Amino acid sequence: MREYRILPDSEMQRQNEYRDKVRDLSNTARDKRGEPLRAYVQTFGCQQNEADSEKIAGMCVSMGYEICHEPAEADLIMVNTCAVREHAEKRALSIIGQYKHLKAVKPDMLIGVCGCMVTQEHRKESIKHSYPYVDFVLGTSSLHRLPELIYTKIQKGKRLYCPEETEYLVAEGLPIHRESSYRAWVSIMYGCNNFCTYCIVPYVRGRERSRRPEDIISEVRELVASGYKDITLLGQNVNSYGKDAKSPDGEVYDFADLLSDIDKIEGDYYIRFMTSHPKDASDKLVDVIASSKHVAHQFHLPMQSGSDKILKDMNRHYDTEKYMRTVEYLRQKIPDVTISSDIIVGFPGETEGDFEATLQMLRRVRFDMTYSFIYSPRKDTPAAAMECQISDEVKGERFNRLLEVQNEIALEKNKPMENKVIRVLCDGPSKNNGDVYSGRSEGNKIVLFDGDESDVGKFVSLKITRAETFALYGEKIY
Ligand code: SAH
Ligand code: SF4
Ligand code: F3S
Repeated sequence: MREYRILPDSEMQRQNEYRDKVRDLSNTARDKRGEPLRAYVQTFGCQQNEADSEKIAGMCVSMGYEICHEPAEADLIMVNTCAVREHAEKRALSIIGQYKHLKAVKPDMLIGVCGCMVTQEHRKESIKHSYPYVDFVLGTSSLHRLPELIYTKIQKGKRLYCPEETEYLVAEGLPIHRESSYRAWVSIMYGCNNFCTYCIVPYVRGRERSRRPEDIISEVRELVASGYKDITLLGQNVNSYGKDAKSPDGEVYDFADLLSDIDKIEGDYYIRFMTSHPKDASDKLVDVIASSKHVAHQFHLPMQSGSDKILKDMNRHYDTEKYMRTVEYLRQKIPDVTISSDIIVGFPGETEGDFEATLQMLRRVRFDMTYSFIYSPRKDTPAAAMECQISDEVKGERFNRLLEVQNEIALEKNKPMENKVIRVLCDGPSKNNGDVYSGRSEGNKIVLFDGDESDVGKFVSLKITRAETFALYGEKIY
């Protein structure tokens, strides 16, 4: 028997009782004013937060709210925050600041702030003191307590600051209100144990805890049955899936096991996952992908830096040789695999030589895509206290140089796609150019084409006519 750390049913039951009480209140309010109460959920940060927001929206719906897309229309605003870089925190604080005006004209409106930013004590305090119109704050360990908070706030009227739980557990069975009817997130685990020295995530998301395989598999099975075509499994380090739930004899049902069991579900769909930590991306995992039917030939493998010294200071537990070996094995087993990465520029102590080593690795690996970030010191992380912080000017200059090198590579990687026929899952009109439709390839590349409304949510066959740095252009094949 493996032991998974799941929130007890009794607590979920307790929350369901609050949910029912709030729903009664919402229904009464609806009958009185002749239209339903509305909730607006705003998300900052990563896919994990987007997945959480779909649970927040699901809980709101179960409490009698209708989901709306304009904050001014809402009776309840939930801001789901991120803390990964200063910019994310500043944006959230500025948006929360703007809601003061909405509340001034609509005093009954409830405003709740949740997520990673307010899981930090000092941010909880700043909301308490500087944003008095925020009604309640809840951190990542207590998302499931939203019904209790809303009910208590409505009944008692006092502002509430939900304390973090002593232990972070998996809340199973929360309702999910999904944004898309064909792409879905499925969290397979929560938290992180890695403590990369620059990163706030382990402090605001708690230790790793995995969901039970049967819960994940049945969620994916239901998604496929209801027509979902692109399903992304989420975890801060999916390679550690299951390691927190060993059986007494030390046996682990790991990520590769999970992936191969999910792959047995019949249907026309892709499975993706993120994020994979290079320190424990195993050959077993690559072999499972290579022999699978549904796992997309795409791999996000954040390298962070191409300097072994910086990788060591980042506490990443791999060096560039180990990283390169994984890339080579991936390409050997899955020749058409798309590889992407995250890179941090300007980590403390990064010399010109270290940065050159990163550029060198970009040229060696030749990523299809990279997501690059300027290092942002995070309070109470080891890197924030390191000497030799890099100036904004140097960081900015290196960032631009990195983009230049990567853009050239991305274009070279995309060019051979010209004249090939590929399958793309259509998302609808492009956000940048509404005249064309946009979709994603199996390798997760953006493809623009002359589509129509009937293509949305479907796989479309396209012949690639032109390849650019950030997008491919295609024509429909009938
Ligand atoms: N768990 C994932 C990523 C989590 S955060 C992983 O390990 O890859 C997403 C990305 O944000 C990281 O890969 C990293 O590149 C970047 N990041 C994290 N902390 C940062 C910081 N303090 N400054 C700049 N970028 C950061
Ligand atoms: Fe942050 Fe590292 Fe954990 Fe990723 S693995 S969330 S970068 S501490
Ligand atoms: Fe994600 Fe930001 Fe939290 S990146 S885990 S929402 S700090």
